[in-house]
Amino acid sequence: MSWLNTSEAPSSKHPTSAFESFSLSSSSRPTKCSAFLGNISEEIANDLASIGFESESLIVSPLIQSGLSLVQGVVDLPEGERWAFLSLVSFAWVYLTARPGVLIGAFDAYVLAPLQLGLDSIVGRRDLRRSDFVLGERLGEGSFGVVYSGAVVPRNVNVEDRAGKKVKDLEREERFKNLQKVILKKVKTEIQGAKECGDFEEWFNYRISRAAPEACAEFLGSFIADKSISQFTKGGKWLVWKFEGDQTLADSMKDRSFPLNLESIMFGQELKGLDSLERYALIIKQIMRQIITSLKKIHDTGIVHRDIKPANLVVTRKGKIKLIDFGAATDLRIGKNYVPNRGLLDPDYCPPELYVLPEETPSPPPEPVAAILSPILWQLNSPDLFDMYSTGVVLLQMASPTLRSTSGLKRFNLEIKSVGYDLRKWREFTRLRPDLSILDLDSGRGWDLATKLISERGFLRRGRLSAAAALRHPYFLLGSDQAVTILSKLSMTKSYCTFLIFTK
Ligand SMILES: Nc1ncnc2c1ncn2[C@@H]1O[C@H](COP(=O)(O)OP(=O)(O)OP(=O)(O)O)[C@@H](O)[C@H]1O
Ligand SMILES: [Mg+2]
Repeated sequence: MSWLNTSEAPSSKHPTSAFESFSLSSSSRPTKCSAFLGNISEEIANDLASIGFESESLIVSPLIQSGLSLVQGVVDLPEGERWAFLSLVSFAWVYLTARPGVLIGAFDAYVLAPLQLGLDSIVGRRDLRRSDFVLGERLGEGSFGVVYSGAVVPRNVNVEDRAGKKVKDLEREERFKNLQKVILKKVKTEIQGAKECGDFEEWFNYRISRAAPEACAEFLGSFIADKSISQFTKGGKWLVWKFEGDQTLADSMKDRSFPLNLESIMFGQELKGLDSLERYALIIKQIMRQIITSLKKIHDTGIVHRDIKPANLVVTRKGKIKLIDFGAATDLRIGKNYVPNRGLLDPDYCPPELYVLPEETPSPPPEPVAAILSPILWQLNSPDLFDMYSTGVVLLQMASPTLRSTSGLKRFNLEIKSVGYDLRKWREFTRLRPDLSILDLDSGRGWDLATKLISERGFLRRGRLSAAAALRHPYFLLGSDQAVTILSKLSMTKSYCTFLIFTK
């Protein structure tokens, strides 16, 4: 059967079908376009009939009917108006599907999110309660929340028995040994604006769990404390994540042996046969690859993290780097958190443009307006490049121990600002005497990447690499870090591993 050769197509057995009446009237139009559309509809009707599809059944569907009458309406327009209409529709389609993807964003927010909520409620995934958890140590405190480690306790265990106990105390008891560890964030309801921040972080975590689950810590949900006990206050909101690992990149970097302390986690073994500088370089490259790959994933869905720093990168037991802390993130697809709250951003990792944006945009536009404007904003401002600057600072810190201390980082920020965010100039001028030999390996590919991340954003994205462009940079192209990861997964012998690295 051919869709192209109309003369061969069998005629419809049902002359009163929607398709046929549509094709008859449209083919009676004198213009080329309507004749074309008419032929197509006739062919579709004929072909459906030839495969035994009863076209009356189509009439029943009001959706198909209204679709057909819409097409009919367009076909009936005078030729000039028809082309104007079609051009407008094409433009709207291109605009709404251009980065960051407003159309897909609307679909996600208004179709997928309610679906996820419905499904989660059916399987009971959102039915978290205060009494499901015990709190452990306090891990950190931000402007709007306090973070604790914790664990899930099975519901058949007496609630009073476990309330307020520390996880470590529980772990000593045999029956609690294999508790599922979690991270709990208590929203500081007493602080102005904290409730909105908590709601926003929750919304965002659900959004990310749909958009890029593998890049981020798994979000388990939220609950409102039903009574005041231990750190729980009645009515207080708590967010819960899966515990992804004991240390963040910041914790690992505090260790003098960094990056060697991550070697076995990242590659499953020691990299024998390489000198220490090459081992350092491979570990750092693997960390950078993972961070930038995750950033590419979230940027592809219109999300900018805006708080990339070692303390917000968790190293899992399997050597994966997961992004956490989306409290300052923005979603350009639907215009959420459009203008950053300065209090949430860490000045040590912020790109130079941050200091311009809030003043230029004193009052953020309402969400739907921000969403509609986002393709223009994305093209003009490239907001994703915010995270790439921060990633450049992380690279520099990993490569040079002098920049890891708080004072070293502060000094770096003062110096880089004074040379107009030109990293090459900074290297000539700095008094920090950083050892950048790791970046100078392989003809300075790492250094070249650093200079293209730590720089002004520039006009039309020319100044700084996006995540996708960074992954195409020669620094990543040889993929020696990837080869080692794959080989270690395949449990190849150490000597063979080393052989392959040398012959890359
Ligand atoms: N899913 C997780 N798995 C393991 N550890 C985590 C996880 N989430 C958070 N943490 C730990 O808790 C700390 C604080 O978490 P987070 O960054 O989300 O909160 P915060 O409000 O920014 O607090 P802070 O300002 O102290 O960073 C992290 O630095 C990390 O050590
Ligand atoms: Mg944090």
